[in-house]
Amino acid sequence: MKILSIETSCDDTAISILEVKGGATNASFKVLANNSNSQIQIHIPYGGVYPILAKREHKKNLPIILEASLKQAKLLKKKKPVDAIIVTYGPGLEMCLWEGISFAQDLAKKWKVPLIPVNHMEGHVLSVFGKNKGTFKIPKIKTPILTLLVSGGHTQLVVSNKFMQYEIIGETLDDAVGEAFDKVARMLDLPYPGGPQISKLAEEERAKEKQYFLGISQADGPRGSAVRARTDSDPEKIGFSFSLPRPMLHSKNFDFSYAGLKTAVLYLIRDLGGIEKLNQETKARIALEFEDAAIECLVYKTAKAIETYKIKTLIVAGGVACNTHLQREMSALKKSAKIKIYFPPKGLAGDNALMIGIAGYLNYIKNNPEGKNTSYGAGKKVPKPETIKATGNLRL
Ligand code: KG4
Ligand code: ZN
Repeated sequence: MKILSIETSCDDTAISILEVKGGATNASFKVLANNSNSQIQIHIPYGGVYPILAKREHKKNLPIILEASLKQAKLLKKKKPVDAIIVTYGPGLEMCLWEGISFAQDLAKKWKVPLIPVNHMEGHVLSVFGKNKGTFKIPKIKTPILTLLVSGGHTQLVVSNKFMQYEIIGETLDDAVGEAFDKVARMLDLPYPGGPQISKLAEEERAKEKQYFLGISQADGPRGSAVRARTDSDPEKIGFSFSLPRPMLHSKNFDFSYAGLKTAVLYLIRDLGGIEKLNQETKARIALEFEDAAIECLVYKTAKAIETYKIKTLIVAGGVACNTHLQREMSALKKSAKIKIYFPPKGLAGDNALMIGIAGYLNYIKNNPEGKNTSYGAGKKVPKPETIKATGNLRL
């Protein structure tokens, strides 16, 4: 069967068309179209997503992306181009979610096909099995699975004793890690969205630091002190010393907190005389220290959860999952914990419709190992399209 999925939870308008077959144990997917329109340029002047503008853009772009996707999938002329529609119904900005939902409802009515609501966060979890092009299958996954979900709105650790069953064991008590990246970027005068900007600056600084310490050790022979203490910057190099906190690092639970780290950066910039006084080198230094602190909290708690829950598979998903430092540090865990790790493929870490299609189909066939009938979810029936409602604070 062919399915069309729609994602409008934040500032990406996205549609994908997949040809799918198989049941819960052998589902396979062929990408016929996967398109999205990022609104980043529109929101840059506001330093973040401006919801009314985002809603307006979704409304304008949905029909355009639909036509392009149908054309690409060679389905434009068909009366009933697909057999089911999948749509994100939460979490996210409700006015944006509604644009996708009402567009999907109209299409479902016109084409007389079922409409399947999907949790955006489950889409992120399953995104790691997707591919941008060609065909793919869901691999056999060993349980228990631990998922670290890191995005602009979420920082959660989730245990699945069964595939697609979720128990949240820890989450942020205040800001999400992606939100902290974005806010610190704003403090450093970097454009929205800040995550990739901070990451780029920090990586460049890390490379320079490596060269610097290599230089020292080559000139003076091996020197233990040449290895930077993780919480201390190098005063010799930038003329002052600072460290940033790792909130809740040693708390007994699996929760996170990013508000304190963000505030620590705010005070640091103030104590250094304000952003206007900072040169490029110091900004890069702050980006590096911030990224080190933010990622260390994620890695530490993830490692603890792997041990506690005897985890066999780790999934790292969400917009922040493409962070180079996070991927490097998580990959190092693999060796000590002997686990299999999945990250989203390039282009599927941020919001996209392909992950929504995967989650929609896997829910659609959940009770059908062979995929023979169309009962939906755990004994649930496909809801009537008009009953689907945007749910901004939907939980996994
Ligand atoms: O999943 P996503 O696209 O949207 C939400 O559902 O929130 O995640 C967006 C978040 C933003 O906060 C963005 O700054 C962050 O992911 N992000 C990154 C990187 N790329 C995107 N954070 C750190 N490093 C990156 N390379
Ligand atoms: Zn997302």
